[in-house]
Amino acid sequence: MSDTPEIATDVVRWQAVHGRNHLPWQQTRDPYRVWLSEIMLQQTQVVTVLGYYERFLARFPDVQSLAAATEGEVLALWSGLGYYSRARNLHRCAQQVVDLHGGEFPRTAEVLAQLPGIGRSTAGAVTAFCFSERVPILDANVRRVLTRVLGFTADLAIAKNERLLWDQACALLPVSDLQHAMPRYTQGLMDLGATVCTPKKPTCMVCPLNRQCKARRDGDPERYPVRTRKLSRRAESWWLMLLQDGNGRVLLQQRPSSGIWAGLHCLPVFEERAALQTALASRPAPLQDLEGFLHVLTHRDLHLHPVQIPWQAEWDLPVDGAWFGASDWDRLGMPTPIRKLLLDLS
Ligand code: ADE
Repeated sequence: MSDTPEIATDVVRWQAVHGRNHLPWQQTRDPYRVWLSEIMLQQTQVVTVLGYYERFLARFPDVQSLAAATEGEVLALWSGLGYYSRARNLHRCAQQVVDLHGGEFPRTAEVLAQLPGIGRSTAGAVTAFCFSERVPILDANVRRVLTRVLGFTADLAIAKNERLLWDQACALLPVSDLQHAMPRYTQGLMDLGATVCTPKKPTCMVCPLNRQCKARRDGDPERYPVRTRKLSRRAESWWLMLLQDGNGRVLLQQRPSSGIWAGLHCLPVFEERAALQTALASRPAPLQDLEGFLHVLTHRDLHLHPVQIPWQAEWDLPVDGAWFGASDWDRLGMPTPIRKLLLDLS
C-alpha cells in the first residue's frame, strides 16, 4: 500500500497540534494508570471518567492496593459508571497481574490480552501508549476512521472481515521513530474518531486524511462501518420491591454474580407485579405504585416500576436482604437508577 507511511505521518502530525494532549492519563506511561483509564473509557465519556479516575487512584494508587481490595469496595467506587462487569474484571485482572506477573503489567499486547477484561484493542492501546509497541487498536471510533479512509465495505458482522480489518490496521502503523510515533498515532486515531470523523456529519474539511479518504471521495462516509447484524435489543419490565422501615432504611439485596447489575446492591426485583405481591403473602401491606421509568442498557430497555411498602416491625422478611439507611448507600455498589430513586425518596 503506497500511501501507508503517509497516513501515519499525517495522523501523528495532526495529533500534536489538534489532538487531546492534557488528559490525566496522558501525563504518564505507568501501565496501571493507562490501563485503568482505558477500561473506564470503554463505553464512558471522557468528562465522566475524569472524576472517577482521580477518586479511584486516590484510593488505589497501584495494582497491589487494587488487588488487595474487596470486590464490594471496587464496585462502590465504580458506582455510577455502569457496565459493572468492567469493575469485576478490573479487580480480577489486578489480582492476576500480582499473582501471575509479579505485580508488573506484561509489556506486549499479546500477553496483556490474556488477562480478564482486556481485549485486543485495549491491550494495544496500553502497550502502544506505555511501551511504544507497534500494534494497532480498533475500538469503535478507530474502526470508523479506518473503514472510511480505506473504503472498507466488507461486512464486519463476519469474523473473517473483522480479521482483515485488523490486518489492514497493522499495515497502516508508523514505521519509524516508534518511541514517539506510536503513542501519538494511537491517540491521534482516537481523537480523529471522537472529534472529526464522527458517526454523523463528519467534518471532512478539517480532517488530515481527507485527501486519502476513499469514503469522502465516494461521497457517503456515513455508510461506514458496514455491519449487517445490529445489536438485538429487548424490553423487560422489572417490579422493584421498595420496603421502607420507620427510620427510612430500605431493604436491599445483592444481585446474582452474573447478569444485569451483577454483584450490586439493589431493591428486590420481580418480573411481574403479581410475583411481588405473592412474596408479600399475607402481610396486610398497602402497596403504592410509584411512577415507573425507563433505564436503557446496551442490550436491554428496562422498564422499572417501584412499588413502595411501609414496613411493619412485627413482620418477618419476605425476601433475603439487609436494611440500609442513607448513610450506608454511599459505600455500596448500587445501580445508578436505584441510587437515584432512593435519593429522590429520602
Ligand atoms: N477513549 C479511549 N481511550 C482514550 C484516550 N486515551 N483518550 C481519550 N479517549 C479515549
